[in-house]
Amino acid sequence: MAQTWTPNSWRQKPIQQVPDYPDLAALEATEARLAKYPPLVFAGEARRLKSALANVAEGRGFLLQGGDCAESFAEHGADTIRDFFRAFLQMAVVLTFGAQQPVVKVGRIAGQFAKPRSSGIEKQGDVTLPSYRGDIINGIEFTEEARIPNPERQIMAYRQSAATLNLLRAFAMGGYANLDNVHQWMLGFVKDSPQAERYRKLADRISETMDFMKAIGITSENHPSLRETDFFTSHEALLLGYEQALTRVDSTSGDWYATSGHMIWIGDRTRQPDHAHIEYCRGIKNPLGLKCGPSLTADGLLELIDLLNPANEAGRLTLICRFGHDKVAEHLPRLIRAVEREGKKVVWSCDPMHGNTITLNNYKTRPFERILSEVESFFQIHRAEGSHPGGIHIEMTGNDVTECTGGARALSGDDLADRYHTHCDPRLNADQALELAFLLAERMKGGRDEKRMVVNG
Ligand code: PEP
Ligand code: CO
Repeated sequence: MAQTWTPNSWRQKPIQQVPDYPDLAALEATEARLAKYPPLVFAGEARRLKSALANVAEGRGFLLQGGDCAESFAEHGADTIRDFFRAFLQMAVVLTFGAQQPVVKVGRIAGQFAKPRSSGIEKQGDVTLPSYRGDIINGIEFTEEARIPNPERQIMAYRQSAATLNLLRAFAMGGYANLDNVHQWMLGFVKDSPQAERYRKLADRISETMDFMKAIGITSENHPSLRETDFFTSHEALLLGYEQALTRVDSTSGDWYATSGHMIWIGDRTRQPDHAHIEYCRGIKNPLGLKCGPSLTADGLLELIDLLNPANEAGRLTLICRFGHDKVAEHLPRLIRAVEREGKKVVWSCDPMHGNTITLNNYKTRPFERILSEVESFFQIHRAEGSHPGGIHIEMTGNDVTECTGGARALSGDDLADRYHTHCDPRLNADQALELAFLLAERMKGGRDEKRMVVNG
């Protein structure tokens, strides 16, 4: 195949999930403006992420990817970004300890605005309107006017992404992400948790390790790696006109990069091999994610791997598996076997959110137990197949929302109405996200002890 790729060759292909812009001239003018704006990220950063992910693909690291289902203009603010970053870093520390491996930190943030929808229309009572497609496209209010796609929103999303990224870079490099801080936040979480007893054991071992490091002179003053952190951004590359406008040639390598974020992924609804989204993504050099749902066959996956990663480079492709707690055992093993048989290098990541959405009291929600159960099955299956369970991909916020049921505070269906703020799918709140990290770390450690026992016979 390998026809010539250009940043706009996707326009010759069939495409799913395109918004119906009423004013195409205005859309074109906006894309032309965006094409002149500065890149949000640099190619060198995307390459650094790729090499970190190559280690994960080879079994020497773990990927933590998470953030909003959909970022919104309404929730944009310093506190929201800070609270997300705090919760996310705490998860990363707990998982680093659990995995005893470096954790690669990738936010669903600073660009995660466009949403694929199962239906193009939404009905409320007798009124039918076009579906909400994310703040970068139209408004969430259920009015005719809000639902009209407006290109100006792309400019707003670009500017919000730039402001968000600016703050994240300052947090990551300016001392806020200092390991001592993260450790103190984590101890605060454990103290207040109804499951404090359960989490304390692991937290104490982290504290002991930190004390030991200090005793031998390893501190954040003399070790930049303890006061700075690598943090990367990612989003679904759904709105291809926007992506194209931010696609730039890297002057050092001559390669094309998406500069809208470090890593971009292809959604479960737009992964048809001969369609536009695969065409766009195959030509850029960023690390890519591919959502793998129940309808993906083993041959279909191999075909997509050859399109997206023809040179079989480790770190280029992350398979983000989202089957559902009750379907993962049916679908994951056949995909792992096909990939292993063909010797393809991939990162296996588990998205335990998108296959576990239910409706309760008219709210879309996700039971915490099902989320945990899908990740547990994912780990068990990889252990049985001898492959590396390389990461998790979650929808979460640092705020105290009530969108997913369960967890240590046992949120019920009746609690959902309290603080249900998401613009799309239900997210884990900060406590639930950290609990997930603690429960996984416990199990990772358990898995290692088991392996050691087998090895030592
Ligand atoms: C998402 O990640 O928000 C999403 C829409 O996922 P998927 O494509 O897996 O349904
Ligand atoms: Co979602």
